[in-house]
Amino acid sequence: MPSEHTPLYQALAEELHGAISDGRLPAGSRLPSVRETARNRALSINTVLAAYRQLETRGQVEARPQSGYFVRSRLPSPPASPLPLKPATAQPAEVAVLGRIEAVLAAQSNPGTIDLSLACPKSSDFYPGRQLNRLVVDTARRKPELLTDYSLPPGPLLLRREICRHAHDLGMTLAPEDIILTNGCMEALQLALRGVTRPGDTIALESPTYFNLISLAEHLGLRTIEVPTHPGQGMSLDALELLLSEKRVQAVVTMPSVHNPLGTSMPVAAKRRLAALAQTWRVPVIEDALYAELQYATPLQPTVKSFDGDGWVILCTSYTKTLAPGFRVGWMEAGRFQRRIAALKFSASLAQPAFLGEVLGAYLETGGYAQHLRRLRRVYAAQVDRLRGVIGSAFPAGTRATEPTGGFLVWVELPEGCDGNHLCDDALERGITITPGSLFSPSGRHGNHIRLSACHHFSDRHVHALLTLGELLQRQIGE
Ligand SMILES: Cc1ncc(COP(=O)(O)O)c(C=O)c1O
Repeated sequence: MPSEHTPLYQALAEELHGAISDGRLPAGSRLPSVRETARNRALSINTVLAAYRQLETRGQVEARPQSGYFVRSRLPSPPASPLPLKPATAQPAEVAVLGRIEAVLAAQSNPGTIDLSLACPKSSDFYPGRQLNRLVVDTARRKPELLTDYSLPPGPLLLRREICRHAHDLGMTLAPEDIILTNGCMEALQLALRGVTRPGDTIALESPTYFNLISLAEHLGLRTIEVPTHPGQGMSLDALELLLSEKRVQAVVTMPSVHNPLGTSMPVAAKRRLAALAQTWRVPVIEDALYAELQYATPLQPTVKSFDGDGWVILCTSYTKTLAPGFRVGWMEAGRFQRRIAALKFSASLAQPAFLGEVLGAYLETGGYAQHLRRLRRVYAAQVDRLRGVIGSAFPAGTRATEPTGGFLVWVELPEGCDGNHLCDDALERGITITPGSLFSPSGRHGNHIRLSACHHFSDRHVHALLTLGELLQRQIGE
């Protein structure tokens, strides 16, 4: 719901987004011309253009030369979560499920594989390689001691300062002394869980959730409870509150801004409520914000951490998806758990390589990051749009897919009778990798879903692979 502080173009974009979503502006219909809308609403041409362009970036409308803006046809979204309101206790992960992860990972390293699975872009085109290379050389020349001296915490001040400066874009006011540098987001998540739980404790995970969180919980000896999570709403806070009222839960792990695998975000009001729940129930909320900067629409929506009054939210993220995957530079802000988690980090691996941190800090300082992110958002929005378009025409009727609000992941619900695990196995035999939905649940739910990734240059090979998947599904329906 736009507030009085929402920019005019954003309010108009939200209004039109609503009309498109609920069918008042059906696929194929033409938006009123820019001039007409500007006149009717007493807005400037630039304001209307900015709103229309935002809808275009989201893939909801397309500009046709000399004709205007048209609503795109789209796949239906999945319905409200089919999971019960009351979350169930999870079972241990099946061996077959773990074997499937290994098979997909092994296939990804084969150059002949058409990869629709990996959630990290391989193409150097998606990264500012030239600038980073230059800064690597420059930093080695200017500060050779970074290569020879022992790296100690808390790590380069320049990087921690820049992290805090950029965190403003996500609504957060952070202090450099509270930033703990980590080996990617995964180490931050591990430290967060180790910092607030003990083996045997219970944690709440979203369902679906990022599959590595499931194995992390298992390795830490934690019990998991799945909380239904819906593309439009994020984690069901009613279900979470019910759970918190009935059971001692030591941590809640969530991806509220551009979720993996859903690709969508929790509304801002729900984020605010989640921060309040954390405080009321005195439960740590571990917020994985890895894809938050890849939201398509700007200004970016804030994180849950932005509403954290009492330090119950632990924010974990990294630059592996947005900037330099090979650097593995991640960071966290652990709120009231800061001291304990900084000590855990020290005992686990002392510190991060100062050299890479300095290079990244120097890059962030240049201002090129904002520009790079703008380009990345455009590229991913267009790729996701293309992916959804091909799914819409290649997959059998009854297929639904999320409408991502950022990043490059699409969560696809298969038609009734189809099975994501079988599709994954059949696709692997044909040199195509996808991620079956069952990996995203500790109890193997979401068997009729798959996650597809659009983070490679989308080529004819990808289109061909999607057509093959469509045929395989058709065959499943026939059987
Ligand atoms: C949601 C989510 N969190 C964390 C990670 C791990 O991030 P990193 O590579 O920075 O450790 C991933 C990787 O795919 C992810 O998708």
